[in-house]
Amino acid sequence: MTAPRKLHIKSYGCQMNVYDAQRMVDTLAPEGFVETSSVADADLVILNTCHIREKASEKVYSELGRLRVAKDAAALTGRQMNIVVAGCVAQAEGNEIIRRAPVVDVVVGPQSYHHLPQLLAQAKAGGRALETEFPIEDKFGFLPPPKPAAIRARGISSFVTVQEGCDKFCTFCVVPYTRGSEVSRPVAKIIDDVKRLADNGVREITLIGQNVNGYHGEGPDGRPWPLGTLLTRLAEIPGIVRLRYSTSHPRDVEETLIEAHRDVPALMPFVHLPVQSGSDRILGLMNRKHTAKDYFDVIERFRDARQDIAFTSDFIVGFPGENEEDFAATLALVTQIGYAGAYSFKYSPRPGTPAADLQETVSAAVMDERLVRLQELIDSQQSAFNAAAIGNTVDVLFERAARNPGQIVGRTPYLQPAHVMASEDIIGQVLPVTLTSLERYSLLGTLATPPIQPLQPVPSHSVTGA
Ligand code: 5AD
Ligand code: SF4
Repeated sequence: MTAPRKLHIKSYGCQMNVYDAQRMVDTLAPEGFVETSSVADADLVILNTCHIREKASEKVYSELGRLRVAKDAAALTGRQMNIVVAGCVAQAEGNEIIRRAPVVDVVVGPQSYHHLPQLLAQAKAGGRALETEFPIEDKFGFLPPPKPAAIRARGISSFVTVQEGCDKFCTFCVVPYTRGSEVSRPVAKIIDDVKRLADNGVREITLIGQNVNGYHGEGPDGRPWPLGTLLTRLAEIPGIVRLRYSTSHPRDVEETLIEAHRDVPALMPFVHLPVQSGSDRILGLMNRKHTAKDYFDVIERFRDARQDIAFTSDFIVGFPGENEEDFAATLALVTQIGYAGAYSFKYSPRPGTPAADLQETVSAAVMDERLVRLQELIDSQQSAFNAAAIGNTVDVLFERAARNPGQIVGRTPYLQPAHVMASEDIIGQVLPVTLTSLERYSLLGTLATPPIQPLQPVPSHSVTGA
């Protein structure tokens, strides 16, 4: 038997990359690769890159500098280390990577991960390989499903890609170019994936897609199913107790999705719904094709269906032409909605996107100052949201043993980490927890009712606190 080869994979950016990294591991497992957390020990290093903002892309080249040192060190001991650049920087800058970074053996775009074994064989034979085409064949159909042991090792919560690509063409965004146009996976394949995950201990599924509520995969009836119908069907799969989805576009919120929030208890009342700006003028320049009022109306539809629903969002400050009045409209929108949290970014011009040609740029100093003001407002809303949970009894899905001995950590419906003293038997169960205090972003609480399995005695020296 040959010794397993070691694979180190580092992902940047979005949840789709986390998911793709797992699929690459699954694709390379039959080739004899096992994962390692150490770069120095690796026979193969994959950088799964993100191109969404300039800073994210720059990281690739500095990381490649470090990898050159590791590759040279491995060579000194007679060991070959191969380096792969995958993800959206690979897709967008493939030729440049090959030119600028001789250390790289393979460049592979997100649509071609199923070709990794052949590309690596090419590299082993002494060549360098680049594949950034959008092949006609369905990448999903060619990626092997994870083995039961891999699923169990990854825990009780799992992502499942249901849709990839984006047809929205917001003027600042590279996604339509790096991930291509929208493709939805057929319902039957998603059901198979979710059943396999549930059979191996997964309890929570997050459906992911760049524009996930644009989902319109073929249903068993031969017709396109919207996301709400898919979620309703997945909730019937035994073992699945929680469903989530990300990332949504406000323009694609169909009534079936609202109905699912009203009728499907497993569908969590927590929605990431990016708005980017509160100014209609800037929304127009961004080609968002909705106004602030349209966004408020969508939020109202969700709230009418499910009163305890909470929202998060993404914001860009300093989009070209954004003036103080536009920015004030963003702050006003945030104040009016009241978020459970949000991500905010300084605008970063991306080569090839229409906004990169806009002349009226906002100075770095103004961007910095606006980002601070926006983040302060969002932070205060997030703190208030978390503090409001104290004293409530909420359902927590328990995930794993916490760092502190005797503590188990789970998540509330709003993804807040919640810690209780309990035995590991409760992992995988949803149990009501009375929340008693908040330490930074973690809630502490006590089990409100005894779990289904009898509790093991908890050692008396255990400490509380995250
Ligand atoms: N500059 C800054 N932020 C961006 N985002 C996407 N493109 C850019 C860009 N060019 C942000 C948006 C998006 C999130 C994933 O990243 O807010 O929702
Ligand atoms: Fe990018 Fe999202 Fe706009 Fe699509 S909808 S172009 S992914 S920001």
